[in-house]
Amino acid sequence: MYSILAVDDDTHFLDIVSGLLQHRKYRVETSNNPTAAIELIDRNNYDCILLDVKMPGIDGISLLDQIIRLKPHVPVIMISGQSSLAIAVKAIKIGAYDFLEKGVETDRLLVTVQNAIAKKSWQEEKHTLLDELQKQFQMIGESEGMQSIFHQIKTIAPTDAKVLIYGETGTGKELVARAIHFNSNRAGKPYIKVNCAAIPETLIESIFFGHVKGSFSGAYMHQTGKFELAHNGTLFLDEIAELNLQAQAKLLRVLQDGEIEKIGATQIQTVDVRIIAATNQNLAGRVANGTFREDLFHRLRVIELEIPPLRARQLDIPLLADFFRMRFSEKYNKRITGFSPQAMNLIMSEKWPGNVRALENLIEKAVIFTKALTIDQETIFTALYSDARDDQLRSQTGSLKEFLEQNEKEFIEKNLVLAKGKKQIAAEMMEIDRATLWKKMRKYKLDNS
Ligand SMILES: Nc1ncnc2c1ncn2[C@@H]1O[C@H](COP(=O)(O)OP(=O)(O)OP(=O)(O)O)[C@@H](O)[C@H]1O
Ligand SMILES: [Mg+2]
Repeated sequence: MYSILAVDDDTHFLDIVSGLLQHRKYRVETSNNPTAAIELIDRNNYDCILLDVKMPGIDGISLLDQIIRLKPHVPVIMISGQSSLAIAVKAIKIGAYDFLEKGVETDRLLVTVQNAIAKKSWQEEKHTLLDELQKQFQMIGESEGMQSIFHQIKTIAPTDAKVLIYGETGTGKELVARAIHFNSNRAGKPYIKVNCAAIPETLIESIFFGHVKGSFSGAYMHQTGKFELAHNGTLFLDEIAELNLQAQAKLLRVLQDGEIEKIGATQIQTVDVRIIAATNQNLAGRVANGTFREDLFHRLRVIELEIPPLRARQLDIPLLADFFRMRFSEKYNKRITGFSPQAMNLIMSEKWPGNVRALENLIEKAVIFTKALTIDQETIFTALYSDARDDQLRSQTGSLKEFLEQNEKEFIEKNLVLAKGKKQIAAEMMEIDRATLWKKMRKYKLDNS
């Protein structure tokens, strides 16, 4: 049930309004005293306030001003005995939702109240959506490497400079690109992403610049290009190293003069787009071997950011693990409060070639597998092991013998970690005898000798 406060020195009017609104199933409180009204507003969460423009002792406009400061999200509908355009304009400017005259038809009053409340709940929803979105793109990192990245993001975000982000797979390149956009002056404008590796060569021009209907066979509809979509905002070119030389030439042209030519269109369009590019490749190396244009490379690397791999920021591993534990416990509706120390040791001992994404996947699995309050080392072990096997099955190259041996090696390695290097215990865990374990450790060069 929505609740409404009506404030007016005219108690007769208050009676009429509350009768009307209560009949429509609103909960109504009234006040004929401005000071008492402010206290009520402070203490309660009204969905809407009706406020008289003229009251003895205080005028409605300054009361409105106080209310807006106190509860900026509550819509205030001003009601006036005699209409004055100047006051109405002032009220709306300060932030009143609407301005009505006392003689207004009841239907109009009811519709106005209804719309004001609808807008309020829509705004509240928008706020929680924004919060969720922010949470989704939250970046964790206390390590020196990440602190430096955060610092650089803050410094470069407000400029319009092009940024080239380097980093191994799964280090957070896309997250950094987003952070730059959302901390820039373009935050309210579009953020458009293009994965250069995913576009077929023949479609690149059309995806970048768009085409008009009928401009080539297969162009059944108009298509707006990514550059046009990103106008006034940011265009994130992911996996930039995967563009072929022809596409690189086209991209260079736009970066030079800020003009795009839609396929089949007669006019040239000017666009204002900030470019952020990312790659996990060595672009300088690509330039050296002639597969990436040097002029384009220099245009893109006005600012270069290199995200360190996860193994180079040990400090972040437990923080990220905990962050993902909370995220996935919430997602899967499970109460999981932490990791056992051994589980965390095991996580810390990994090399993380797949970086943060791999850690995230591991913790998601561990949360799904866990039946207890804390995640223990067996669960991490199982999740890690299934990960390694998944990767191998996915790549599906090599002989069966290699596959089995690779798995055997990893299995033994993990058990040795779990057993803290104590071979007797590791052998028992794997249900093999010590001699067999020795033999296999020598075979897989796990004996460090
Ligand atoms: N510092 C961080 N804090 C929280 N989550 C992170 C962090 N870094 C990366 N992630 C998460 O890890 C996953 C991978 O990040 P992202 O997609 O940005 O990496 P990437 O470098 O673009 O990977 P790829 O090279 O595979 O495209 C995402 O789910 C992201 O939310
Ligand atoms: Mg990426």
